[in-house]
Amino acid sequence: MSPTSRCADLQPCADTLGQAYAALPQLWQENTWLQDVAARAQVLLDEHPHGDLKAWRGALRSLPTVDCAMDADRAAPRLGKGTAEPQHLREVLMRLHPWRKGPLELGGVLIDTEWRSDWKWQRIRPHLDLEAQRVLDIGCGNGYFGWRMLAAGARLVVGVDPTLVYVMQWLACRHFAGNAPNFVLPLGIEHLPPGPAGFDSVFSMGVLYHRRDPVEHLQQIRALLRPDGTLVLETLVLPDEKHGPVLVPESRYARMRNVWAIPTIDRLLAWLREAGFKTSQLADVTATAVEEQRSTQWMRFDSLAEALHPKDARQTVEGYPAPTRALLMVRC
Ligand SMILES: C[S@@+](CC[C@H](N)C(=O)[O-])C[C@H]1O[C@@H](n2cnc3c(N)ncnc32)[C@H](O)[C@@H]1O
Repeated sequence: MSPTSRCADLQPCADTLGQAYAALPQLWQENTWLQDVAARAQVLLDEHPHGDLKAWRGALRSLPTVDCAMDADRAAPRLGKGTAEPQHLREVLMRLHPWRKGPLELGGVLIDTEWRSDWKWQRIRPHLDLEAQRVLDIGCGNGYFGWRMLAAGARLVVGVDPTLVYVMQWLACRHFAGNAPNFVLPLGIEHLPPGPAGFDSVFSMGVLYHRRDPVEHLQQIRALLRPDGTLVLETLVLPDEKHGPVLVPESRYARMRNVWAIPTIDRLLAWLREAGFKTSQLADVTATAVEEQRSTQWMRFDSLAEALHPKDARQTVEGYPAPTRALLMVRC
């Protein structure tokens, strides 16, 4: 599908929670792993106990009917034609707060998300060839990168993320984009059956440090890739050895819970070797700036600025090194 599509080939998907993943198995028919995962995702969505689900469903049902369209080759993927009532649409989309990954433009309304995810994409894009690829994106958030991957030539993007509000945001995107082959399933990596799954590329961005056993996470990814596939890995790293080869935060790191271990780049490369990957190319190392991750109207909670030390922005409030992220292209 071209990055710019019109309603002729895109069907609107409003109020289709009950069949969110119906089209997915047909897009890769011989892949039994995917059939299994799509079925699990549908059951989870149908039976999810989350207390806000009813309100989110109400918001999705209130989305205005507009012509579907997709122009994803831009910082803020433009999904859907402009609505005649932007203020109403804005209010409905606000009911799916917090919007973290983006920016996105839905029905003509620009969503200024917490993250300038387009900056991350700019760092990744020169290192990718996604032409005709089938991609798995672990911890995909609301599926922002999936739209960019389609625009870069991917034929199918399967995203998984256990945070249900992000799945709701993806459903809102889908309402405007139609049946484009970019999916977000409400699953954590631990819910995925073991491979082989045969993906050409697997993305793991911002997830490794949330896993208790990083080598196990990498091994699991390896089994989800085809034999000569590529892992696109983005994760927090230590800028130097002051805290030793691995920082294990005492409690929180940059106010985040569940940050288990932050390695130096050398230790990260060792983990990748231990997991069985053959080659790793370090593509980028960037200290996260407060202009890249910040509070906005669409994400009204505290953000990076409040997680940094008030007197020294090179440290977190806990006194650890401020977030620096490495991007690696890793081959099986
Ligand atoms: C820091 S965000 C990164 C999002 C996106 N990949 C990016 O790079 O901008 C981490 C994401 O991982 C998701 N996540 C948390 N636990 C997970 C798990 N067990 N399996 C997969 N994703 C998980 C969170 O819901 C969140 O969307």
